[in-house]
Amino acid sequence: MKSSGLHSHNSGAKILRSPLKKGSVTFATLFFLLIFIITGLISSSWTNSSTISVGDVSTKERIISKEDRRTPKRIAIPLNCSNGNETQTCPANYPSTFETREDDELSSNSTCPDHFRWIYEDLKPFKATGITRDMVERAKKTAHFRLVIVKGKVYVEKYKKSIQTRDVFTLWGILQLLRRYPGRLPDLELMFDCNDRPVIPSRDHRGPNTTAPPPLFRYCGDPLTLDIVFPDWSFWGWAEINIKPWENILKDIKEGNNRVKWMEREPYAYWKGNPFVAETRKDLLTCNVTDNQDWNARLFIQDWIQESQQGFKQSNVASQCTYRYKIYIEGYAWSVSEKYILACDSVTLFVKTNFYDFFTRSLQPVHHFWPIRDDDKCRSIKFAVDWGNNHKQKAQAIGKAASDFIQEELRMDYIYDYMFHLLNEYAKLLRFEPKIPVGAVELCSETMVCHADESEKKFMMESLEKGPSITSPCTMPPPYDPHALGAFLRRTFNSIKQVETWERRYWENLNKQQ
Ligand SMILES: *[C@@H]1O[C@H](CO)[C@@H](O)[C@H](O)[C@H]1NC(C)=O
Ligand SMILES: *[C@@H]1O[C@H](CO)[C@@H](O)[C@H](O)[C@H]1NC(C)=O
Ligand SMILES: *[C@@H]1O[C@H](CO)[C@@H](O)[C@H](O)[C@H]1NC(C)=O
Ligand SMILES: *[C@@H]1O[C@H](CO)[C@@H](O)[C@H](O)[C@H]1NC(C)=O
Ligand SMILES: *[C@@H]1O[C@H](CO)[C@@H](O)[C@H](O)[C@H]1NC(C)=O
Repeated sequence: MKSSGLHSHNSGAKILRSPLKKGSVTFATLFFLLIFIITGLISSSWTNSSTISVGDVSTKERIISKEDRRTPKRIAIPLNCSNGNETQTCPANYPSTFETREDDELSSNSTCPDHFRWIYEDLKPFKATGITRDMVERAKKTAHFRLVIVKGKVYVEKYKKSIQTRDVFTLWGILQLLRRYPGRLPDLELMFDCNDRPVIPSRDHRGPNTTAPPPLFRYCGDPLTLDIVFPDWSFWGWAEINIKPWENILKDIKEGNNRVKWMEREPYAYWKGNPFVAETRKDLLTCNVTDNQDWNARLFIQDWIQESQQGFKQSNVASQCTYRYKIYIEGYAWSVSEKYILACDSVTLFVKTNFYDFFTRSLQPVHHFWPIRDDDKCRSIKFAVDWGNNHKQKAQAIGKAASDFIQEELRMDYIYDYMFHLLNEYAKLLRFEPKIPVGAVELCSETMVCHADESEKKFMMESLEKGPSITSPCTMPPPYDPHALGAFLRRTFNSIKQVETWERRYWENLNKQQ
């Protein structure tokens, strides 16, 4: 796949989890040592005096001196794996509140990116009724876990195993959100389904005689369902296929983009992935170049088993931005590969899909990507690449707009802010008091990472939030008013139609010439 086989259908990637030695004494010792070093580094480099001894922080507002105002203090929350017990427990007095610096010029007073407005749209079906306990319980049917936050602490009730480590890294991400904004998340209970396709049909919950829809969180949605979309696990890493956490990938891709300029890239459309997860991907393979036919497509199959045996040398996301055009095509639902492809500075050829994740609905055709028909892929790709090679400035601008969007509006700060606002808006709708489930154990970064497998631990430490953010989350933009949203959707629709018209003319002209 291209980069990383992201293209493997997300759930289809049959990657074996590498058999890792658990609890080997040397490794454990080394690891604890590492934690201490890291903790030490954090406290010394962030500010002189700021490692809080974990008890010192329960006071809500600390007095901020004049001096502090100029150099806001970063505070590190330690990660303490050393309670000398087989069973790792959460620190009893995990900090639950910190001051933020609303008053400060450094504080982010900025409005969140536009895709945050879809939070209101996703929660709209629950607005009239609010969310009752009964509604949440009905979402349990397909859920992998129930997430509970009470007084800043996280509890989880697991119902079944998810594909690979999706649930693990999703929960890890939520714990990092709490380390970043301690004391600022409301009490809540929610159900999370880690599978690919949305499952709450809107038609079942329309009309006078129907029940209110169950609120169910997952990674993607489509226009016929009411599932609530949430950032996927890969932002914190995809251990099975060695895709590291997003923040570092973004840096790598940026460097890679600077190394290979658009003009010097291969003037074809590239795709590498797992075609066996969806008919539409098998269909795409018919567009590959042969001795008799060139649709401007260069398509490759990702063999994950082989990749994992060779240490993923061929699947480094950052080194795969070497074509001017890159194809994005859904797998069984949306594909995690999307963001890595859009980041490349290449023109993303986006094969039509009905699935969306939490940011796709803000992407504009011809501005951020080039739309490709799903029912006539080869001719559509051939035209797109010819158009781009004949309009190089415009094509480059499309690639740049997408990678700017990814680098700016999809940077890790905004992933956390999106989660923050989504959970806050969701919690406002709750009509019951969230309760710690009977028998539930508290979940914290320590209980997740201290005894994790080596490959998971690596990515967790890489994506660990060191301590509270000194800035507040961005400010939510207002909801779309229905007219503005209608106009936006019409614009999207029309520019796709426009491209289809150009494409039709192109083929008519070519056929005339023959
Ligand atoms: C880690 O936890 C143990 C046991 O609770 C405690 O004795 C130790 O001081 C803690 N270490 C740090 C660095 O906080
Ligand atoms: C270690 O864990 C066991 C079982 O949870 C508990 O009974 C014991 O008190 C713990 N010991 C320490 C030193 O925390
Ligand atoms: C920050 O945002 C608040 C609320 O929108 C506004 O009242 C205030 O003037 C802003 N401050 C700055 C420095 O922009
Ligand atoms: C609503 O449901 C009740 C009980 O099932 C039924 O008697 C009634 O006809 C239904 N009304 C409508 C408008 O479907
Ligand atoms: C597509 O064509 C290229 C060039 O001939 C070839 O290397 C590649 O293996 C082909 N891909 C597939 C999936 O057959």
